[in-house]
Amino acid sequence: MKAVAWLALCCVAAVQAKVYFEEKFDDKWADRWQSSDWKRDKGEAGDWQHTAGEWYGDAEADKGIQTSPDHRFHTIWAEMPEEVDNTGKDLVVQFSVKHAQKMDCGGGYIKLIPTSSKDQMKTFGGETRYAIMFGPDICGFSTQKVHAILTDNKGRNLETKKATTCKTDELTHVYTLHLMPNNTYRILIDNEEAAKGALHEDWDFEAPKQIKDPEAKKPEDWDDRIMIEDPEDKKPEGYDDIPATIVDAEAKRPEDWDDEEDGVWEAPQLPNPDFKGPWSPNKITNPAYKGAWEAPMIDNPEYEHIPNVYKLPLLKFVGFELWQVKSGTIFDNVLVTDDAHYAEAFANATWGASKEKEMEMFNAIAKKKADEAEAKRKEEEAAREAAKGEEKDEDGDSLPQDFEALSRSVISDEEEEDEAHAEL
Ligand SMILES: *[C@@H]1O[C@H](CO)[C@@H](O)[C@H](O)[C@H]1NC(C)=O
Ligand SMILES: *[C@@H]1O[C@H](CO)[C@@H](O)[C@H](O)[C@H]1NC(C)=O
Repeated sequence: MKAVAWLALCCVAAVQAKVYFEEKFDDKWADRWQSSDWKRDKGEAGDWQHTAGEWYGDAEADKGIQTSPDHRFHTIWAEMPEEVDNTGKDLVVQFSVKHAQKMDCGGGYIKLIPTSSKDQMKTFGGETRYAIMFGPDICGFSTQKVHAILTDNKGRNLETKKATTCKTDELTHVYTLHLMPNNTYRILIDNEEAAKGALHEDWDFEAPKQIKDPEAKKPEDWDDRIMIEDPEDKKPEGYDDIPATIVDAEAKRPEDWDDEEDGVWEAPQLPNPDFKGPWSPNKITNPAYKGAWEAPMIDNPEYEHIPNVYKLPLLKFVGFELWQVKSGTIFDNVLVTDDAHYAEAFANATWGASKEKEMEMFNAIAKKKADEAEAKRKEEEAAREAAKGEEKDEDGDSLPQDFEALSRSVISDEEEEDEAHAEL
């Protein structure tokens, strides 16, 4: 036990965490972050408020930057003090997101941008090249995922093939992307592993090793008919002689039929129950069926092994570039480091230190709103009762007391449920 503890201590101490960027959004934050001009001339660019929001663990420490107003493109970026070169190193990107508006549709992801001129960042927007795009994206129930897009050495943006669900509540959550030099990765939400694996497997960095042979053709004699006509089945003799209709034997010539005026009477025709239409043989399963033909797999001439897909271009900027239908997301505690242990401790010291108090405050606010709504409802009901009382005095007619009490309690249960849903 002791030896293990010592070993852990020794190695943590031996590894010096390199912190490339750490942003807690204190009062000086505006010196480091700026919005871009993208969409501004069209009046479609949003702004950022410095706030901890309505619920938080610590009024000062939990201040972050919040999107506002609705239906805007929000951009903001900061320069990292030095270039980040992740060759042979871990890279950890981490930040917290609080969708205080109860997100219905909008992004909550961060971007890491390769080295370029600061001038270029003035127009930072949807078309700006990035190396990492990471974080939650929500649109209704159809999209509730953690984006993890990495750029490859050809500049393509590759989305992970592994689906990871993001948080959809109104509390603060920490998202962490950890890339390792052995080409593996982890995605954490609130310091818990949400996904991990091999970069080569979960992103299409490489073309597939094998493909279907594009030259291959289905052989002429390949029988892929599942059913065939039964060669044994023969048309019964006389089948074609069966008439489609027969004379209605029950029909009688009407009493008042006049051959001279109405013509010669003929009994009407009825469909013949023995007539089965044109003959066709029975179908049977084809004994020669070989299955559906598939082209054989061959080695893909386009395949090329790319050894170090974890390696990103040199990085210089972090930024948020988002479209939000409903604004109100608060971002905080942005971290770029080469040390996953440091990132975990940082998340503990920020989100971890605040989460319980934040939850308490959130619940207290939710309860207060519910109580206020209930008080308002009662008030309105009392007013209705009073009005009804007056009416009753006039016509002396009203529902029995018990029935009213019963229907009132049913309504109030339903309303409470609705409120609970609205709060969630
Ligand atoms: C990659 O490196 C990490 C961290 O050192 C280690 O935990 C993991 O087992 C390694 N994975 C592979 C496939 O080598
Ligand atoms: C973070 O907090 C968790 C839960 O308290 C703890 O288990 C973990 O060791 C902490 N990690 C670090 C790096 O401090």
